[in-house]
Amino acid sequence: MEKPRIVSGIRPTGPLHLGHYLGVLKNWVSLQEYYECFYFVADWHALTSEYKNPSIIKDSTRDIVRTWLSVGIDPDRTVVFRQSDIKAHSELFLLLSMITPLAWLERNPTYKELKEELKEKDIGTFGFLGYPVLQTADIVMYHADKVPIGEDQLPHLELAREIVRRFNYIYGGSILKEPKEILTQTPKVPGLDGRKMSKSYNNAISINETPESLRQKVMQMLTDIKRKTKKDPGEPRDCNLYPFHEHFTDEGTREEIASGCRNATIGCVECKEILIKNMEREFSPIWDKLAYFEGKDLLIDDVLKQGARKARKIAETTMDKVREVMHV
Ligand code: TRP
Ligand code: SF4
Repeated sequence: MEKPRIVSGIRPTGPLHLGHYLGVLKNWVSLQEYYECFYFVADWHALTSEYKNPSIIKDSTRDIVRTWLSVGIDPDRTVVFRQSDIKAHSELFLLLSMITPLAWLERNPTYKELKEELKEKDIGTFGFLGYPVLQTADIVMYHADKVPIGEDQLPHLELAREIVRRFNYIYGGSILKEPKEILTQTPKVPGLDGRKMSKSYNNAISINETPESLRQKVMQMLTDIKRKTKKDPGEPRDCNLYPFHEHFTDEGTREEIASGCRNATIGCVECKEILIKNMEREFSPIWDKLAYFEGKDLLIDDVLKQGARKARKIAETTMDKVREVMHV
């Protein structure tokens, strides 16, 4: 039986950090087993917020693909491509925009929120309002059965389904497919300062740390403030570091750490050493691959070229049908 298909994208607005790794990439890697996957770099979507400062987009695109390959996205099984290489996405975006009521976009919660949040970026643009229409084009172009996304993206997927229903209603039949979501858990790892891990807060652990910088960052992390010395008992729930153990440390050791923390028999430095060791074990094969791909831009570009070839084939078939029913 054919595997169901999934499509998902990441906006290239900077290096990927541990939050992306735990929340998105690990998931993407394992989905390759059960799905035919299309993973793409959404560079046009990045432009919606970075249009005044677009120079990071191209390098960031290569950087992201390098990271994908290093964590185990396999371009032999998975179609890896760049959105702007498939011009048909922009054509489908245009055609879908013809049938998308303005009110659907204006009530989109991410539009309302981000507009507030990114005031300094002047985001009251036509392109930004149309963001979910472009996202719909990305998804339905490949007849995706499912889309792995975080909770924040759910309104966009709902909008995609509404646009598909309207399209199929107006033009008849079932030319476009309604996508379902695969909801991915947002990992509960805070940034170094305890706030949400984010590039813009400058508190992120990158996927591409060196052993030294990783150690430095972990050592600098705030722990339970009640633990002024090793003799003061603490509470893992009040510690910024402990959530990391949930991802990198086995359950038995974790329980030992938790009770050691509460009974003041383990110190924070010791606890951090355990985490560093476990993170190094998980990341060293990834670091090796990142080092291997470093500077090999031609190889990365070639992966994108192969991916674009496969994606374009399907995109053109979809567009033939869409153009036909829309008489253009
Ligand atoms: N909007 C998504 C995000 O910011 C990125 C994205 C663009 C996407 N096109 C997509 C995700 C299509 C899934 C499917 O995370
Ligand atoms: Fe956090 Fe570990 Fe220190 Fe407890 S011992 S406060 S879990 S770093």
